[in-house]
Amino acid sequence: MLVNGNILKKAKGKYAVGAFDINNLEMLKAVISACVEERSPVIIQTTEGAIRYAGIEYLASMAKIAALQGIPVVLHLDHGQQLDTVKACIAHGYTSIMFDGSHLPFDKNVATMKKVVSLAKGRTVEGELGVILGKEDNIKSAKNFYTDPNAAELFVKKTGIDSLAVAIGTKHGLSKKDISEGMKKHGFRLRFDILKEISERVDVPLVLHGGSDVAPADIKKCIRLGVAKINIDTDLRVAFTKSVREFIKKNPEVYDPREMLKPAMESVKKVVKKKVREFGSYNKA
Ligand code: G3H
Ligand code: 13P
Ligand code: ZN
Repeated sequence: MLVNGNILKKAKGKYAVGAFDINNLEMLKAVISACVEERSPVIIQTTEGAIRYAGIEYLASMAKIAALQGIPVVLHLDHGQQLDTVKACIAHGYTSIMFDGSHLPFDKNVATMKKVVSLAKGRTVEGELGVILGKEDNIKSAKNFYTDPNAAELFVKKTGIDSLAVAIGTKHGLSKKDISEGMKKHGFRLRFDILKEISERVDVPLVLHGGSDVAPADIKKCIRLGVAKINIDTDLRVAFTKSVREFIKKNPEVYDPREMLKPAMESVKKVVKKKVREFGSYNKA
């Protein structure tokens, strides 16, 4: 069934719900069938890029069908940047909205989030404070890189958001290794001390972006410190593309796309099942 992000309240401190980015039917089916088999709740999320690629009508309709399989499914906007996208998602039945105002000055971020919360009416809202490397990494110093716990407390109080994405040193996209080296060079690392401080001051579930390729032991620590939603995109893209590449190499004569996409779906499904186990959300549906 389609539910909102309040399922994170139940998870907080015990397990995390995987939030998987999807762009097409194959990714969606792979994520859902993995979670059905694991009896896990799941967050299906689409970025504005996914909406531009597939169309909001297709994405929302497919997700609604996918939600009829007996597990709780949240349909979530990931990194919304435009209020018009927020309105469109609400109109098309999304049950949860992230507006990413993390690049805005604090007061502007607060004002915009308040607007999103008032538009959302019953849907849950995720906000972000701090800078997650990769997409948003034009950052010069550690000071404005990690989420400031004082600012986080104030932000949640002022905006009334339901969950908060924090920047503690994870990164969007590939090459986490390069980034960890880059982070080391700049003195950055995964800051569990900051996460702990935020979780002591903020009641709402916390969200970890850039969750691909984070070590299982670090994931466990994050969950203990209040992270209840973990975003995964890159690991799925890599699994899908690797499978398609290998298939074409091995079977250059095949021209039926279904033959090439079936193993890709299986590869994505395997990754999702592994994540669900790592996040501890199996049998929680
Ligand atoms: O942060 C979200 C994704 O990993 C990037 O997604 O390429 O659809 O914007 P996008
Ligand atoms: P990854 O690039 O690590 O998969 O992060 C995805 C994400 O945070 C989407 O919002
Ligand atoms: Zn993200």
